[in-house]
Amino acid sequence: MELIHDINIIKEPADNQPYIEKVDKIESIGPSKKLYIESYGCQMNFSDSEIVTSIMEKQGFDTTQDLKEADVIFLNTCSIRDKAEQTIRRRLSQFKSIKASKPEVTIGILGCMAERLKTKLLEEEKIVDLVAGPDAYRDIPNLLQDVEGGQKAVNTFLSREETYADISPVRLNSNGVTAFISIMRGCDNMCSFCVVPFTRGRERSRDPHSILAEATALFNQGYREVTLLGQNVDSYKWSDEHGLSSKAQIEKNGTGNFLSFARLLEMVAKVHPDLRIRFSTSHPKDITDDVLHTMKKYQNICNYIHLPAQSGSSGVLERMNRTYSREWYLNKIDSIRRILGEDCGISSDMIAGFCGETEEDHQHTLSLMDRVKYDFSYMFFYSERPGTLAAKKYPDNIDLATKKRRLQEIIARQQQHSLERNQRDINQTFRVLIEGYSKRSKEFLQGRNGANKVVVFPRGSHQKGTYVNVKITDCSAATLHGEIVTYEG
Ligand code: SAH
Ligand code: SF4
Ligand code: F3S
Repeated sequence: MELIHDINIIKEPADNQPYIEKVDKIESIGPSKKLYIESYGCQMNFSDSEIVTSIMEKQGFDTTQDLKEADVIFLNTCSIRDKAEQTIRRRLSQFKSIKASKPEVTIGILGCMAERLKTKLLEEEKIVDLVAGPDAYRDIPNLLQDVEGGQKAVNTFLSREETYADISPVRLNSNGVTAFISIMRGCDNMCSFCVVPFTRGRERSRDPHSILAEATALFNQGYREVTLLGQNVDSYKWSDEHGLSSKAQIEKNGTGNFLSFARLLEMVAKVHPDLRIRFSTSHPKDITDDVLHTMKKYQNICNYIHLPAQSGSSGVLERMNRTYSREWYLNKIDSIRRILGEDCGISSDMIAGFCGETEEDHQHTLSLMDRVKYDFSYMFFYSERPGTLAAKKYPDNIDLATKKRRLQEIIARQQQHSLERNQRDINQTFRVLIEGYSKRSKEFLQGRNGANKVVVFPRGSHQKGTYVNVKITDCSAATLHGEIVTYEG
């Protein structure tokens, strides 16, 4: 998923280089009660923290980035791999001294780890006062009252309906140019390695009117890019019974009317031609040609797809319960290339060392990568998660050294491909949305092109939030460098 700018970034240890565990700290403003919130994990969690902050603002809380002045400290947590949970445990142990010197401070665990461990968290981490799962954020004011009354408070109820559609997120650490819009919650897939269906519950789609209203409001506030977020955006579905205002937006599926992801994408694309649209994550079994044709039709829908393969071996994919084979996946890639062209950015997630993965399976993953040539990938080694299908069904039988070695080989191959893909871009000109200064120097600006590649170029007198055309002159595996050729204002 996307990286967040202007924040502290904690990398997972070296065996997992390209994945970034994101940590978001928020700005301090004004008097009254103070909330400090830190977010971990995927973009959905960062998006949820913006909802929580909105709920807390209504309770009279301002945000602070100074732990010492906080009345409430929230960690919005991730359970995706064991390492993610260990990071949270270490962070919590750093809070012990704060709790000792200021016992009245409330420490709350939100998000996926809260949902997975529930009351166990209170037993295991004595300094925790409050535990709230991803669907329980509206209840936080009540939970805080319980804590004030001297009790520990827990709500890990998972909902079939909650989408927080009516809550306007308070944008945290925003660059004022790019924002995320959550379009659905939960996941109904049962990838055998994955804890998300257990921590986030059943899949549900958000009212398209509220999505459109949020996109429009963002554009009017000066934002120029929105990323539509969901664990599996292609299964977005809004049924007629929920009420759709325009029949033109409805698609017939034989059994009733519903709004598909392709139509939602189209509706958001029509908000304004200068509002760029991205989306994440697409599932290979669900992405349709309709989505691809919609991307082609609208210039402002970015030419980029995050299409996690996880493995290149059909046998492993079957044990992962991904419900597609290598051939199916490669057919999807061919459709993307056919409809959207060779320049369409494609990225993936890969897991090394899943249960029973042979050396041959691993070679299949490398050969799939050779065939697709991803622009970039997020790469992990398998971490068994308690309660998942894989934990119940398959022994975690690849030793750590082998997992790490295979992961390193996958990372090395990706580096090669990223460089190759970036070299193809030299001498091409791209429309780039300026997001701010380059990380290295204030003499340079950076933004991304449609394919989601970071482009760095001399500052000149250009402003963030505007589009420029940049001709690429040089690159590394991670970044394109170039010169502005025309200015569009
Ligand atoms: N919904 C998204 C991914 C969500 S989790 C999708 O379906 O693609 C992000 C990534 O974490 C996954 O794509 C997978 O590559 C990785 N991941 C999930 N569970 C994992 C586990 N148990 N061990 C290692 N990596 C895992
Ligand atoms: Fe996890 Fe699979 Fe759902 Fe993604 S699609 S969140 S990997 S279960
Ligand atoms: Fe982590 Fe939960 Fe996201 S487990 S990756 S924060 S959905």
